[in-house]
Amino acid sequence: MTNKVYPVSDKWAENALLDAGTYEEKYRRSIDDPDAFWREEAQRIDWIKPFTEVKDTSFDQADFRINWFSDGTLNLSANCLDRHLAARGDQPAIYWEPDNPADEARTLTYRDLYEETCRFANALKANGVKKGDRVTIYLPMVPEAAVAMLACARIGAVHSVIFAGFSPEALGNRIEDCDSDIVITADEGKRGGKTIPLKANVDEALDHHAHVSRVIMLRHTGADVPMKQGRDIDWAEAVNNQPAECEPEEMNAEDPLFILYTSGSTGKPKGVLHTTGGYAVWTSMTHQYSFDYRAGDVYWCAADIGWITGHSYIVYGPFANGATNVMFEGVPNYPDFSRFWQIVDKYKVSTLYTAPTALRALMREGDQWLESTSRASLRVLGSVGEPINPEAWEWYYHKVGNGQCPIADTWWQTETGGHMITPLPGAHALKPGSASKPMFGVKLQIRDAEGTVLEGACEGGLVITDSWPGQMRGIYGDADRFFDTYFSAFKGTYFTSDGCRRDEDGYYWITGRMDDVINVSGHRMGTAEVESALVLHEHVSEAAVVAMPHEVKGQGIYCYVTTIAGVEGDDTLRKELIKLVRHEIGPIASPEVIQFAPALPKTRSGKIMRRILRKIAENDTSSLGDTSTLADPEVVDQLIAGRPDV
Ligand code: WTA
Repeated sequence: MTNKVYPVSDKWAENALLDAGTYEEKYRRSIDDPDAFWREEAQRIDWIKPFTEVKDTSFDQADFRINWFSDGTLNLSANCLDRHLAARGDQPAIYWEPDNPADEARTLTYRDLYEETCRFANALKANGVKKGDRVTIYLPMVPEAAVAMLACARIGAVHSVIFAGFSPEALGNRIEDCDSDIVITADEGKRGGKTIPLKANVDEALDHHAHVSRVIMLRHTGADVPMKQGRDIDWAEAVNNQPAECEPEEMNAEDPLFILYTSGSTGKPKGVLHTTGGYAVWTSMTHQYSFDYRAGDVYWCAADIGWITGHSYIVYGPFANGATNVMFEGVPNYPDFSRFWQIVDKYKVSTLYTAPTALRALMREGDQWLESTSRASLRVLGSVGEPINPEAWEWYYHKVGNGQCPIADTWWQTETGGHMITPLPGAHALKPGSASKPMFGVKLQIRDAEGTVLEGACEGGLVITDSWPGQMRGIYGDADRFFDTYFSAFKGTYFTSDGCRRDEDGYYWITGRMDDVINVSGHRMGTAEVESALVLHEHVSEAAVVAMPHEVKGQGIYCYVTTIAGVEGDDTLRKELIKLVRHEIGPIASPEVIQFAPALPKTRSGKIMRRILRKIAENDTSSLGDTSTLADPEVVDQLIAGRPDV
């Protein structure tokens, strides 16, 4: 922790969209009179039929409900495209930067994006997709990913975007879970000079998950890939002869917009369901305020479209606001460690929004990679996905931003739809590592394990006591799990599963997950998912997975594995297990460490004591706490002795 404070500069205080006073005044109003506040804020969206109801929500089990603007109708694709055509049809909507800088970049104006979207929307309809149908999207970071999402939104289909780094197995499970019978993919993706066999992955996924009747494939790298007769068609062929106009479907505010799978502490990944109206208002509003967004800004969110950050802050928020977006196919370190800064200079990026893990990876390569670039166009920086450590924050602020750009350290979750806690540029003094202050309409509490509300400076579990428009509306296909997962820990509130400290100035500092979710490079991994993969191996009898600290990734995956009798754990088995996890989930879930253990520490009732496993993984064995309730306390010494030197 540092005690540094960076006050708002005079320049920012004078010119900010929202200054300190306006923030306070607006925040107050959003809490005291939510109806009036949101009625006004929702005017940023074009409604087909204006809503009369604003907020109808309750977190109490007896009358649990979350409805926003619920008698209004709109189309989000039209809000992202059609309404911009008159004033900014020729303005770039997407500057697309390829993985390899030697390849050709592309620019799509708002008119281009509109026409591509309409054509593809018509193609979806021609392929039998109707309002409410689920469409799986498994695409690399190409403009067509945004086109496919917006096309779904246009015709009222519900998209489920699967990150292109997920394995065929993970893809297949997600296709099955939401019962989608169409998949949109590409021949291959490109990242850091490597290719990802997306179409081959889809083929493999569909070998085991057979319902899918249509695969639309974008030719991106031009690789020679087999096409299955009757099932697979080319994107180009699908849109050929489709008109560049497509009447947007009138959607109710509470009609589903998308499903996005994310990991929880138990069971399989859950399909987080977001609806249309509230999400539109929330992403548009937060994109504008958090980044002090102005017309003419060149805005770059370096996340992947496969995560919520890509949904809310590459697609819906920025396009609703008519922003010029940079979309980057590649990675920060290819072809070298200056790539990000080259892109910033090339497009004169004013806002850069990225993750601490990328910053740490670049920071450790040294400042020489910054030197050939000026980054003088930058005005605002953003951080997302995990707590940003003060060292990375200072580097981002002083080196990348030349000490000129406020950092919006945005805390939020797939479930929240958009930013929940963040300093607003020009309104808040910055404290490195603190997500700072709540967004409008966000009512926070910190509670101890017993549920007592803590006051003043304190630390505990972070809960949210009232609904906000961007909140998820359910877990696809599992209403009970929604309530149980989020609203049962502390009655009448949404529990975030994050730990949090509030300081004397009322600034919030997120300390990390309190559940069994590991945050690897800003990606959520459930320990249960990794464990399920490990125990599939015939030589494994039991597995327990915990987080370990990792210098660049933030956290790494540490696995304890016990083998069946007669089998010794060795490097061969270790390799097989890593391969198995990559097969079941994907490379993002690759274990950092696999420790073979004679047994796992369990209570007498058979419960694995994860607290102890975490301590050993952290190499912090001085304070293991009470081990007297263990069935076999000796196990702990064996585990400590057997810890690999990492
Ligand atoms: C963590 C990503 C600290 C947190 C948008 C949360 C953060 C989880 C921050 C959600 C931040 C995200 N500071 N921690 N600025 N942003 N987190 O669903 O633990 O992929 O619960 O959403 O990431 O991850 P998710």
